[in-house]
Amino acid sequence: MKRETFSSGLAVFFATLGSAVGLGNIWKFPYLTGQYGGGAFLAVYFLCILFVGLPVMLGEFYIGRKTRKNAVGALNQLKPGTSWKYIGIMGALSSYLIMFFYSCVAGWVYFYLFKAIKGDFAGITMAAAKTQFGEVIMGPLSPIVWQFIVMAVVASILAMGVKDGIEKITKTLMPLLFVLIIICDIRALTLPGAMEGINFLFQVDFSKLTAAAVLTALGLAFFKLSLGMGTMITYGSYFTQDNNLFGTATKVALSDTLVSLLAGIAIFPTVFSFGMEPSAGPGLLFMTIPLVFSQIPFGNVLLVAFFFLTSIAATTAMLSLVEVPLAYLNEERGVSRPKAAIINAVIIASIGILATLSVDKASLLGSYTFLGRGFFDWFDYISSNILLPVGGLLIAIFIGYIVKKEDIKREMSNNGKLNIDFVFNVYYFILRYVTPALLLIVFLNSIGIIKF
Ligand code: PHE
Repeated sequence: MKRETFSSGLAVFFATLGSAVGLGNIWKFPYLTGQYGGGAFLAVYFLCILFVGLPVMLGEFYIGRKTRKNAVGALNQLKPGTSWKYIGIMGALSSYLIMFFYSCVAGWVYFYLFKAIKGDFAGITMAAAKTQFGEVIMGPLSPIVWQFIVMAVVASILAMGVKDGIEKITKTLMPLLFVLIIICDIRALTLPGAMEGINFLFQVDFSKLTAAAVLTALGLAFFKLSLGMGTMITYGSYFTQDNNLFGTATKVALSDTLVSLLAGIAIFPTVFSFGMEPSAGPGLLFMTIPLVFSQIPFGNVLLVAFFFLTSIAATTAMLSLVEVPLAYLNEERGVSRPKAAIINAVIIASIGILATLSVDKASLLGSYTFLGRGFFDWFDYISSNILLPVGGLLIAIFIGYIVKKEDIKREMSNNGKLNIDFVFNVYYFILRYVTPALLLIVFLNSIGIIKF
């Protein structure tokens, strides 16, 4: 059977953006920026995108498109019989860890969509918004049911294939997402006291920056751009042959960052306008957005639209998360796509329950903690702050020192058809020296070997 690819440059862009844009932008980015003090965190995040994220993303595209294989098979083909394939295996592991908690939060989003359709948020007050969020996450049964629904949706789309599943869904729905977020922004910016939120987001005060904040910004950059775990290798393997990899990487990173900022602009003015704490944590999105729309005409329609599109963003990102182990099972182990989709959904839904039941200290499994973190937090911490940056470091070393420079240049210039001499040289230098050095420094610092 012929291996599938996306059908056009536009499809490549939307599918890849569909992977990058997700709960990371709408849920994680705002609450982390809130917890780590706003503008200064944002500035470090931008630097991470530029000097670490983009170079690693290009490296992953190269590995994928050159070999046209899943993450494990791709590394095996480039360096047969070596341990480099473990980057792919580690990637599949990260994919599971992320999915365990991601599917839980996606479940809340689906649930909120359902509640918005029922009209549960009409004329809501801040206190009521908090109570509703508490009820949604505490369950214990309903968040698990929603998590299962999420996994059933993801598995069904993936079973349909790369073109009929992933491509169709992302191409139809990603453009809508932009329109909706901009509408939310306009509303948020016209709230009384909106400027305070904007100032919080953009005012840079480096005295607030801690080592933990820098590590978190780095982890967020990887998480946001779906890097360090083979997602972009796998998607890269479906790219068209004439796609300009530099162009795609730049456009995706820019658009993704734009969506994060737009989400921040929708959320922080509301936080300040209603006197909430910007450091409210994972519940931030769920407690603010219903308030944004609560008192305006057609507010409920907009609320439904917002949670619908957040569901879409979460779903398209999950497609790419699950595609990593799925493509591996399919190509290396000969399991059919539909079967591999079901196997993965079952694994994720069953272990994911641990995350769902440990969200809060008062949750059913909330008292099972280790070093102060429960299951939910550990899944997130190990994947975002450890595995993704380590995966990224290994990919940077692999591309910068193991693969031949000429081979990379040939693939990235589409066999010499694109004139990329200058950008390629800048890129290669950054990837070889700057990216690994930054990754190492942040790491050694976070485990306490060096201090700055
Ligand atoms: N980038 C996605 C988001 O921001 C999450 C993700 C991480 C997707 C890793 C794929 C791989 O929500």
